[in-house]
Amino acid sequence: MLKKLLIIAHQPSTNTQAMVDACLKGTLSAETSDVAVSVVAPLECSPEQVLEADAVIIITTENLGYMAGATKDWFDRVYYPVLELKQGLPFALVIRAGLDGTGTKRSIASICTGLHWNLAQPVLVCKGQWQPAFTDQCFELGQYMAAGLDLGIV
Ligand SMILES: Cc1cc2nc3c(=O)[nH]c(=O)nc-3n(C[C@H](O)[C@H](O)[C@H](O)COP(=O)(O)O)c2cc1C
Repeated sequence: MLKKLLIIAHQPSTNTQAMVDACLKGTLSAETSDVAVSVVAPLECSPEQVLEADAVIIITTENLGYMAGATKDWFDRVYYPVLELKQGLPFALVIRAGLDGTGTKRSIASICTGLHWNLAQPVLVCKGQWQPAFTDQCFELGQYMAAGLDLGIV
């Protein structure tokens, strides 16, 4: 049966676009037969899309010590519509932070605990000055999520 992996990605800069591209490429490199991957901006992502997803990858920037406003808007809109129906949803989180990332990591962990979602792999915080290794890490995270979903281990 087809499984859906949804990447909810806020990508306001060239660097963050490269991270999302790498993550998507990683999911495709897993060469799964039964996983469909899609990328959606948080402001465009409806509760129905989350209800249809079998796993999600959230990619956000940190702004002013917290997740990007667009990402927060997404949580605000989907929280109650999915709360009862998506408990146990596997998720991964990627944060691009110029300096820190802890406020974003803490707040999203708290919200996702409230949603009863399962963190499928350690949170990836790409912080500080831009490094090419960030895209490699995003690729691997995407690959792991797609392969894990295909194998039924996430
Ligand atoms: C208004 C604004 C506020 C920001 N606040 C933070 C912050 O609180 N903590 C942090 O680590 N980075 C912060 N940043 C840096 C962004 O996270 C970073 O620039 C963004 O993720 C894009 O990455 P890039 O500069 O590599 O393209 C901020 C950026 C902007 C534009």
